[in-house]
Amino acid sequence: MKELFDVHCHIIPGVDDGARNLEEAVNMLLMEKKQGVKNIIATPHFRFKMFETDLQTVKKQFALLKREADKLELNLYLGCEFHSTMEMVSMLKKEQVSTMAGSRYVLVEFSGGDSASHIKERVYSLISAGYKPVIAHIERYEALYKQYDFIEELAEMGARMQVNADSIIGKEGFSVKRFCKKLMQYDLLSFVGSDCHDCRERVSRIGEAYAYAAKKLGEDYADRIFITNPYKIINL
Ligand SMILES: [Fe+2]
Repeated sequence: MKELFDVHCHIIPGVDDGARNLEEAVNMLLMEKKQGVKNIIATPHFRFKMFETDLQTVKKQFALLKREADKLELNLYLGCEFHSTMEMVSMLKKEQVSTMAGSRYVLVEFSGGDSASHIKERVYSLISAGYKPVIAHIERYEALYKQYDFIEELAEMGARMQVNADSIIGKEGFSVKRFCKKLMQYDLLSFVGSDCHDCRERVSRIGEAYAYAAKKLGEDYADRIFITNPYKIINL
């Protein structure tokens, strides 16, 4: 069986709007395992005025869940879904928020209506500080949705694109599904995350998305975005 990655999920208990407690988080680990996921980068939100859990608490909760992940033979790493702010670089430098698994990759989230120039400027600030921005669920932003030239420009700057597994398999509608497929065909997609928050509504469908990508674009391609690319995050 393939050892898939989930690079975006809200599985650490009690630190954001994801897993509410350890029991739910363990059930989420089991759900990931059923999907064929072996390696999980947990990415709790950091967003001013909404999710400001201090890193010490996040690390403590992460350690609790890591013990459970070890028992299930799952590899759990710490990351963060960092909502774009002017202070992003200084906070990363001060280690107030986590990069992805201690690498230079940073999962960065924007608001749906953020302008292209805003996104470009934030991405540039991260790259010039030596970070590798991974733009979270790009299918959600007006400035990027179906804007292949702009996405390509960001990729050429050094940004990496992530979409959610649900979007790939059509859970967010046909138009979003088609957009994701085009991203894959144009080779503009680097990562897939489940963005799971629980076991009921916002679940992990990584395995289903892998199967879809393998069927449409071939197994080698699917391996690249679900295994090889994320493997580089944990091995840098
Ligand atoms: Fe998320």
